[in-house]
Amino acid sequence: MVVNKQSSYSTLPSFNNAKSRTTLHCFNQVWILPCFLTFLIAIASTYTLLFPNIHKILHLTPTVPPHCNVFDGQWVEDNSSTYPIYNSTDCPFAERGFSCLENGRKDTAYINWRWKPKQCDIPRFEAGKALEMLRGKRVVIVGDSLSRTQWESWVCMLMEGVENKESVYEINGSNITKTIRHLGVRFRDHNISVDFYRSVFLMKKDYKVPAGAPNNVRMTVRLDEVDDIRDQWVDSDVLVFNTGGWWTENRLFNEMRCFFQIGDSLVMGMSVIDGYKMALNTWADWAEANINPNRTAVFFRTIESTHWRGPNQCDVSREPLKETNGREKSEKSDIIIEVLRKRMKRVPVRVMHLTAMGSYRSDAHVGNWGDNPGMQDCGHWCLPGLPDIWNQIIFTYFLPTISSFNSHHN
Ligand SMILES: *[C@@H]1O[C@H](CO)[C@@H](O)[C@H](O)[C@H]1NC(C)=O
Ligand SMILES: *[C@@H]1O[C@H](CO)[C@@H](O)[C@H](O)[C@H]1NC(C)=O
Ligand SMILES: *[C@@H]1O[C@H](CO)[C@@H](O)[C@H](O)[C@H]1NC(C)=O
Ligand SMILES: *[C@@H]1O[C@H](CO)[C@@H](O)[C@H](O)[C@H]1NC(C)=O
Ligand SMILES: *[C@@H]1O[C@H](CO)[C@@H](O)[C@H](O)[C@H]1NC(C)=O
Ligand SMILES: *[C@@H]1O[C@H](CO)[C@@H](O)[C@H](O)[C@H]1NC(C)=O
Repeated sequence: MVVNKQSSYSTLPSFNNAKSRTTLHCFNQVWILPCFLTFLIAIASTYTLLFPNIHKILHLTPTVPPHCNVFDGQWVEDNSSTYPIYNSTDCPFAERGFSCLENGRKDTAYINWRWKPKQCDIPRFEAGKALEMLRGKRVVIVGDSLSRTQWESWVCMLMEGVENKESVYEINGSNITKTIRHLGVRFRDHNISVDFYRSVFLMKKDYKVPAGAPNNVRMTVRLDEVDDIRDQWVDSDVLVFNTGGWWTENRLFNEMRCFFQIGDSLVMGMSVIDGYKMALNTWADWAEANINPNRTAVFFRTIESTHWRGPNQCDVSREPLKETNGREKSEKSDIIIEVLRKRMKRVPVRVMHLTAMGSYRSDAHVGNWGDNPGMQDCGHWCLPGLPDIWNQIIFTYFLPTISSFNSHHN
């Protein structure tokens, strides 16, 4: 481990004070006791140079108290040009369908809201710092289209710190589409990979349905087996998951004609919520058995609020809601929190409990400004926008507290 002496030195204010006081006053008798104390402090400070862990504890982002619930807070208007972090028109990895300003959205106030946790502040995002922190690392984001948005935001945020934009590329030259299974962006000069895997249930899907299944069963989702591309996720330093939006009766049973399967058996009649719970337990057992907690920081995002007025209808507001009308609660989010708390023993999973945070943001959806002007969208978020703040929380709040992201740079 390389410890940069200069930066450890300058983050220890007591050391600097001690030095000046000792030279100025130590021959004056009145000052003998304070001088003796400051000498002790000076000596202790010198010791911290020899014990880099002490340095690290002191060095931790000072605005973040250790027990801050970063997801408990409120939105405050911030006109100080903290946001937007990037211009989606200039970022080749922000898909057109989320690029609201490019698609004609005129009111821009929705960009200028900052999340203010009750007990702390989220540090400002600095792309250069984030790039150094992730140097040589692989980031994998797995889930549905909201995870794709997060992935796009992640790449666009980091690209702000890259001078040669050509040095950032999708490894197979693939274009972003709604159904693509895997996208992988490389930051050549920093040796960073940021991958997205589409896995809307996180579970294995099967188009070969069990023999004797009713005619309306077109496919199944296995509740006892994680998606068959799961092995591709494990070799990573940051791993972010979500699942939820596809777990509805209408989507599963009516639109997809997809039913639950356990082992070789079709399970008709199980509620979607019970299926969701079982799937999360399966996911948790898989993660416990397969993820190396010494290497991989695992995050799980809870359910996102939607703001539909009716089927395919919504009104994007100009400001966040003052009242969320219960949207800050979600049964599925509660299940995520409970299952992970009970099941994860060896592998810590950081729950990103975004449900309440997003529930106010009826102003931050794609609305009419997607890639299909005839279609309203109050499920997805504009980019730049809310997903940038999820990533800002990971970059500036979570990762700097994890030693493998904090030890070998400067
Ligand atoms: C931010 O700017 C908007 C639009 O100019 C203005 O309406 C609002 O009052 C400003 N908010 C703050 C906190 O300065
Ligand atoms: C984003 O960049 C494009 C040009 O690439 C420019 O036309 C547009 O005004 C910029 N948008 C914002 C919000 O600055
Ligand atoms: C790039 O990072 C990988 C780990 O993700 C590491 O194995 C490899 O040696 C690095 N390559 C260079 C050129 O630093
Ligand atoms: C991606 O889209 C561009 C422009 O539409 C097209 O020229 C290119 O062939 C596409 N690439 C792939 C791999 O499909
Ligand atoms: C790129 O193509 C190779 C070969 O087809 C495939 O194995 C790999 O998964 C692809 N990578 C991405 C990020 O799509
Ligand atoms: C993780 O690190 C701990 C302590 O250094 C060690 O005991 C453990 O075996 C490591 N686990 C794995 C999976 O490498």
